Amino acid sequence: MRARKLVSAILLAAFAAAVNVAPAPSQVPAPRPRHNLMPVPASLRFNAGRLPVTNAFAVAARGHADARLRAGVERAVRRLEGRTVMEFARGLAADPAAAALVVECAGPGRAVPAVDEDESYALEVTDKQAVLKAPTTVGALRGLETFLQLVEGDREGFYVPAVSIKDRPRFPWRGLLIDVARHYQPVEVIKRNLDAMAAVKMNVLHWHLTEDQGFRVESKKFPRLHQLGSDGLYFTQEQVREVIAYAAARGIRVVPEFDLPGHATAWLVGHPELGSAPGPYQIERRPGIFEPTLDPTREEVYKFLDAFFGEMAALFPDAYFHIGGDENTGKQWDRNPRIQEFMKRRGLKDNHALQTYFNQRLLKILQKHGKRMMGWDEIFQPDLPKDVVIHSWRGQTALAEAARRGYDGVLSNGYYIDLIFPASAHYLNDPLPEGSTLTPAEAAHVLGGEATMWAEWVTPETIDSRIWPRTAAIAERLWSPRETRDVEDMYRRLAVVSVRLEELGLTHERNQGMMLRRLAGGKETWPLETLAALVEPVKEYRRYQQRPQTMLSPLTGLVDAARPDSDAARRFGAHADALLSDAPRFVAGATELEAALSEWQRAAPALAALIEGSPALHEARPLAGDLSELAAAGLEALSYLTRGVAPSAGWRDRRLSSVEQAAKPKAAVEFAVAQSVKQLVVAAHEWPRLREMTAADWKAHVKQLSAPPPPRPRQH
Ligand code: ACM
Repeated sequence: MRARKLVSAILLAAFAAAVNVAPAPSQVPAPRPRHNLMPVPASLRFNAGRLPVTNAFAVAARGHADARLRAGVERAVRRLEGRTVMEFARGLAADPAAAALVVECAGPGRAVPAVDEDESYALEVTDKQAVLKAPTTVGALRGLETFLQLVEGDREGFYVPAVSIKDRPRFPWRGLLIDVARHYQPVEVIKRNLDAMAAVKMNVLHWHLTEDQGFRVESKKFPRLHQLGSDGLYFTQEQVREVIAYAAARGIRVVPEFDLPGHATAWLVGHPELGSAPGPYQIERRPGIFEPTLDPTREEVYKFLDAFFGEMAALFPDAYFHIGGDENTGKQWDRNPRIQEFMKRRGLKDNHALQTYFNQRLLKILQKHGKRMMGWDEIFQPDLPKDVVIHSWRGQTALAEAARRGYDGVLSNGYYIDLIFPASAHYLNDPLPEGSTLTPAEAAHVLGGEATMWAEWVTPETIDSRIWPRTAAIAERLWSPRETRDVEDMYRRLAVVSVRLEELGLTHERNQGMMLRRLAGGKETWPLETLAALVEPVKEYRRYQQRPQTMLSPLTGLVDAARPDSDAARRFGAHADALLSDAPRFVAGATELEAALSEWQRAAPALAALIEGSPALHEARPLAGDLSELAAAGLEALSYLTRGVAPSAGWRDRRLSSVEQAAKPKAAVEFAVAQSVKQLVVAAHEWPRLREMTAADWKAHVKQLSAPPPPRPRQH
């Protein structure tokens, strides 16, 4: 099980912190000009006036205008057409004076997208014209995305507000890892996610290509790797080049990962001679951590890797190669007498030392092929050369420690989007948190971060919904100033970004409807939609236990249709919070709560009937009753509060126990609204105590009484 306890505990801590610091509506800082930019630019000033977007809209270029810039402008204009339903001229306009948007680019930037690319830009919009200036084409592409995000519409039509923006990223490495090994994701999935990444100014696709469950890249030198290790689901070299070109056109680097020496079963299916045990090996179908490991004691293994990485170095132009290095169990090494003998002879005192030996050999191979080595933080030890990049997944301290010792590092701990935490938990997770004791020189080694889309439980149908929109919040953390931390405002903008990502073909919103229709077998889906909006897939690694499945199982159940970070639950929670803040009147939010609860109440019997008639939904049977219980508990609590009638302790206990029952995961989903309903029940019982305390103290008292128990460390 990838990431096991440590990351879970740390993420939970981050989640708890996020929940605690999320400002309640009454504590929101002074209003700022509202905009829908994500990531928020480094410097932004709104001015008076607006630039209308009419069907005369055209873009002109001054200075450098290469094919990449022209294609970027073309894509932006087509998107704007789609959004405005207006037809605009093709190609660049000849006369800058008459164009609505002028792009002034100084030069092409790096031939191959690189970590030191200058991505800065300045955008000045007046009521006459917008001017976008950038030192490089990539900077101009970033500015074009900002321009598109600025476009708004109202009764007078579409427009861009007058604004003065100077922007540059806070971190140079803003990545998304896509694991295409556990579940293969075809080129079109990668491409649409590259489009989405570009839309929120991310610049590294970390392509996790090899795993126990699949070897996903064509090797012409060693074709048995992909032929026997992939079920025929791999990227041809031509497709790899196509993806790299597509990414480069958007200013995105492609860093490949070949996970070694562990996570290596699929390599060994075609090449058992590389393994630390004789084999034969089969593609792994289960999720988890497995034993098959390369044999680091044999020269043939290094000869093989030299030839393999030589081939891959020519295929992948990026300066960095990721070699994984994580979660090697060492069990095959322990059992192999020849390996034990080798260790004794060389004075390698444990498996860690042996893996270090392997890494050093691999490092030389990568250097020979002109690549910088990157690996998960297991590879970090004192005598590692300084040009190795540490990718931290097990904790923030590893990153800081690496930086202190002069190593570049990238943070993924806290950005594990596969664990289904809300965007808020990731958003406040900072590679260089406030109070960091790193010197500026040390801090410069912290290159940025990467969201990780591990793919045990995603298919092309669901992967977008696990990546987006939450990853846009991570993109903002990595681009925008550290002080950009208003969770509520992030969510407001995230909702807009989410819809705009759809124009790029992302399926995170729309596929849910399709999946629910399939589950319902063509029957009316509205009750199921109500349910799906209120539940989330279980978090962390609970899915492993709740729904034992393999990489061959269909991922088409309710849990797959459910999405992380329920909007409906967050809105309900905000209304419940507003209601508690409005003690003792209990007016604010009451109408909205009543409407929501009544809808649940109405949906519950219809849902029960739908589930009965739809075998694919039978596992969700208890959820209809739960929905009904939550609705009843919430409506009664609301009624007590708004009428000023005190319920008995018996009522409270009955209701709390039914809410608790409803809160338990079933069918690998859980009600994201259960906690808010619990608060209402507690509040209803506690309201007479308003006589003894201030409204603010009372609210804190209610929150404390209804707080969830602290998370227990999980047992595997
Ligand atoms: C990892 O999650 N094992 C990098």
